[in-house]
Amino acid sequence: MTNPRADRGSFRDPLSRVFISGDDVIRGFSAMGKTDIDAVWSKKFIREALASGDLIPSDFVEPGSAGLGTEWVAAMRHPRLPFISYPYEWSFNMLKDAALAQLRLTRAALADGVGVKDATPYNVQFVGSQPVFIDAGSFEVRKSSDPWYGYKQFCEMFLYPLMLQSYLGVQFQPFLRGAVNGVSPDTMRKLLPMKLFRPRKGRLIHVVLHAAAQNKFADTKVDVKKQSARAGMSSAVLDATLRKLEKLVGELSLHDKQSTWSDYSERAHYIESSLDEKERFVRDAVASSPRRQVWDIGCNDGRFSRIASAHSDHVVAMDADPLVVDRLYQSLRNEKNTSILPLYVDLSDSGGGIGWRGVERPGVFDRGNPDVVLFLAVIHHVAITFNIPVAAQLDLLRDLTPEIVIEFPHADDPMVKRLLLNKREGIHSDFTLPEFERLLNERFDVRSKMLLSSGTRTIFHATRKN
Ligand SMILES: C[S@@+](CC[C@H](N)C(=O)[O-])C[C@H]1O[C@@H](n2cnc3c(N)ncnc32)[C@H](O)[C@@H]1O
Repeated sequence: MTNPRADRGSFRDPLSRVFISGDDVIRGFSAMGKTDIDAVWSKKFIREALASGDLIPSDFVEPGSAGLGTEWVAAMRHPRLPFISYPYEWSFNMLKDAALAQLRLTRAALADGVGVKDATPYNVQFVGSQPVFIDAGSFEVRKSSDPWYGYKQFCEMFLYPLMLQSYLGVQFQPFLRGAVNGVSPDTMRKLLPMKLFRPRKGRLIHVVLHAAAQNKFADTKVDVKKQSARAGMSSAVLDATLRKLEKLVGELSLHDKQSTWSDYSERAHYIESSLDEKERFVRDAVASSPRRQVWDIGCNDGRFSRIASAHSDHVVAMDADPLVVDRLYQSLRNEKNTSILPLYVDLSDSGGGIGWRGVERPGVFDRGNPDVVLFLAVIHHVAITFNIPVAAQLDLLRDLTPEIVIEFPHADDPMVKRLLLNKREGIHSDFTLPEFERLLNERFDVRSKMLLSSGTRTIFHATRKN
């Protein structure tokens, strides 16, 4: 048995804590946490959520035999998920589906007399395109007058970000990455223009009420619990609120129809034979060894993620275009795909952790160990558009993975020429194949390479130097 290691992001709930132990996750429960879990675990909604996959598989184990200390009086074992992602890396429909999963579970629990203590998207993870609730420590038996403690949090972390995107066309991810607690009611109230409040007053009640309550209760001694008990938070009232929220969230949609990269699927600039060769090269490289995890950075429509997926356990497909990621998510969801995880990641602005001391939610590069990274037709965008030097990109890849498949468009490639059009002449004069190969050879051993028949792109399969 491996010694369990405390998860650095699991400390906010004093009643339970998560430990990583090899391929398992162990959740330890304190005496109070055990009382909660014992009281709810035999309920119907838990059995159903486990059976449907809405709740992560969970088995009780002896804390001592799982390697936990004596302060933990009960423990559960869960499978370790292939990759932990965060809501600011999700696309609109991923956040929406996670919100609906949270509401579904909260309603089912309520029907069994159980309250869900919080409502944070960090308790939801995606296994491929399937949202799964991972926090078995979130449940407690309700007293009849208990409010829904997660209501405000639900608004701040699910509803308001979705509204920002749906009503205003504002990307929500920077808000969630900027603040681990989400968008405050006051901020939301100020962001929404007055004209939105009139015809949609009913829908915006969740903004208006919370913003007013935030002002009223700030720094006062008002007991919100007592207030809501007096207001009569019967389960019928709560269920009605949850149902209305389900309807409201269900109606929110992403209106974006086009983005810079949303029409790339045709890959019009590749001559057919080049695309075939490229696919074959990628397939051979990935299939050359058994793979647990492949990352496809700059995945676009996931064409190469899918090829990699046929030869690996899991693929994390990342792209900096949120619409592209959303479309990929929707197509994977339609297929019920559980082995490709699509994520919004802008390579030029990623890596840092957020939350307590910047380690509560670690940066994307600290959350996985890909066996192979696909970096296909991305390097020129990151180098020329974002001015991230080729050497810095190769350093990142060397630190991240033992193996890469990388496509380099030469200086005379039509796309490179286009990117350079509005740049000062000479500023990227080192963006050449010989210079790239020099930098690559410093860090990696090239196992194979191929000039695509377009004549302006070379693709490499390389392993990290020891
Ligand atoms: C030319 S397409 C390549 C798509 C795919 N890898 C292929 O080879 O067919 C480039 C992709 O890189 C993505 N991209 C550009 N800059 C990026 C960045 N800074 N971080 C992540 N992805 C980026 C774009 O959104 C686009 O989908």
